[in-house]
Amino acid sequence: MAETFAVKLEERCYYPDPRCKAAAWTPDYTRAYSEFLHDPDGFWDQVARELDWFEPWDRVKEWNYPYAKWFVNGRLNIAYNCLDRHVTGGRRDKPAIIWHAESGEQQVLTYEALHHEVMRFANGLSSLGVGKGERVCIYMPLVPEQIVAMLACARLGAVHSVVFGGFGADALAMRINDADAKVLVTADVGYRRGKTIPLREIVNDALTRTPCVEKTVVLRREIPAADLDPAREVDYAELVARAAPDCPAVSMDSEDPLFILYTSGSTGAPKGIVHTCGGYMVGTYYTARHDFDIKETDVLWCTADPGWITGHSYIVYGPLAVGTTVVIAEGTPDYPDPGAYWQLVQDLGVTIFYTAPTAIRMFMRYGAEWPAKYDLSSLRVLGSVGEPLNPEAFEWYYHAIGGGRCPIVDTWWQTETGMHMITTMIGEPMRPGFAGKPIPGAVVDVVDRRGNPVPPGTGGFLVIKEPWPSMLRTVHGNDERYRTYWNTIPGCYTAGDLAVKDEEGYIMVLGRADDLIVVAGHNIGTAEVESALVSHEAVAEAAVIGKPDALKGNVIKAFVTLRVGATPGDGLVDELTRHVKKSLGPVAVPAEIEFMDRLPKTRSGKIMRRVLKARELGMDPGDISTLEE
Ligand code: WTA
Repeated sequence: MAETFAVKLEERCYYPDPRCKAAAWTPDYTRAYSEFLHDPDGFWDQVARELDWFEPWDRVKEWNYPYAKWFVNGRLNIAYNCLDRHVTGGRRDKPAIIWHAESGEQQVLTYEALHHEVMRFANGLSSLGVGKGERVCIYMPLVPEQIVAMLACARLGAVHSVVFGGFGADALAMRINDADAKVLVTADVGYRRGKTIPLREIVNDALTRTPCVEKTVVLRREIPAADLDPAREVDYAELVARAAPDCPAVSMDSEDPLFILYTSGSTGAPKGIVHTCGGYMVGTYYTARHDFDIKETDVLWCTADPGWITGHSYIVYGPLAVGTTVVIAEGTPDYPDPGAYWQLVQDLGVTIFYTAPTAIRMFMRYGAEWPAKYDLSSLRVLGSVGEPLNPEAFEWYYHAIGGGRCPIVDTWWQTETGMHMITTMIGEPMRPGFAGKPIPGAVVDVVDRRGNPVPPGTGGFLVIKEPWPSMLRTVHGNDERYRTYWNTIPGCYTAGDLAVKDEEGYIMVLGRADDLIVVAGHNIGTAEVESALVSHEAVAEAAVIGKPDALKGNVIKAFVTLRVGATPGDGLVDELTRHVKKSLGPVAVPAEIEFMDRLPKTRSGKIMRRVLKARELGMDPGDISTLEE
């Protein structure tokens, strides 16, 4: 880890329309935050009471460093809170999910319809032997059935592990095996940019090395439908058609696991982040409602995929626990043209729009004339997540999309935190470049490596100082790795990000301190890409760095040494690119591959990526005393 360093701070500030503030769920951030600090358990106790529990909790939290339990001995079901609570509570006919396909096809599922679908699919899963505590892997395109499958698992108490549909066969197989999934839910194909993505082929490849999977449920979308192998495959529609309509929600302990979601590690294999039922429900419910300021008539569009934590928390669990209408769209922002998203905002009357800086920068590149063709006056709140929202992108988003009316909530959080931890709450002055302040409920700071807070203007490590309800509970099968989060800097959870505060306590996130590369909002571990490259027969060694990119935040550059007999050249670059794509998926593909005779290494044989990076960016490599020769 680097030492602390000085940072030049942006000084621009935007003052929101005072009417936003008066009407917000949190009309006075400063007061809400001090009420929370005064009585943290009382604060979360109040929030949890807004939801339905089968049995109340004895204690709000039990903190046994670094292990937390929340809502101890409480019993609940999160799917019950996302569905039954609304069906019986006046939202029966309210749209829960509006799905838009690239072809223009649309499907609306009311809360009642979604409830029925989920119950039937849950019964279908249990007919395949899925019960409480068992793992189900979900590898699907962005269709309502993906969300149905997640909620059906939650209803049964089964633990889902959603794998983003853009991952390749090796990444999928590794995640299936690590989670020891018994059932896989997938689809024959996805559709993207007018092309058909053959998911079932990727699945069949992965399944050659996943002995734990007993059955695969396949949603068949293509016409004519492909034949299934009755020994191991089950048709989604048939499974649902023959399932009984009613399925009671299983009563879960607050601390029972709800899902595993993999995030890239800086060394070795991806980490299976484990979230539990009670705290995760309360944390995502509160932040969805307060940070986006969701009101009864809102229509929320979070453009992520449920395969990422953003989709888990702010497409599925948070918004549905609140009872809002959620838009999902299968496809890309610029297909068939760069107006595709704005057309949808206009047609569906989207009021809350949540996306990633990489998408905003892409829209900037296409120009403000695209959004200007559409009526975006329904928009009320804009959100950003995944990487720093640089001031230029903030300004563009604010004016070209928000018409200068909409507050921007730049939300900092992680797969591990489960919920937003930092943002500028609606109605508070906004500082471009700064995510904002800790939300009520979170205690966040910027410190040096000994854990002492650093003064404003000095960069340091972003840490969380108190447990929070939706914190990860462990890393699946690797609790040691979990403890590392809490013992890197004494007394704190270390996020792995560098940050800086200003005089007023606004926090600017600067990027990752370790070897993660954030490409277009997705976390890619250097180690994963390197091992994919090295698995090619021509490659001896590989080192991967992140290189700043105006559009994607970072792109991957790979330095490769070849085995004797292999010939460098464009042909090999193409081949390696295809190889990584097949193994890890398109997000992990290097934008540049450079062949080298040798890689810089330490005496103990560790590749010195920072030396490569410094050379690439024309910077001083710093201390190179450990460099071999
Ligand atoms: C980065 C995504 C700056 C950060 C929810 C973090 C951000 C990592 C922001 C987690 C933001 C996320 N500003 N950086 N608003 N939000 N990050 O697990 O480096 O996919 O550690 O969770 O994304 O990525 P993850």
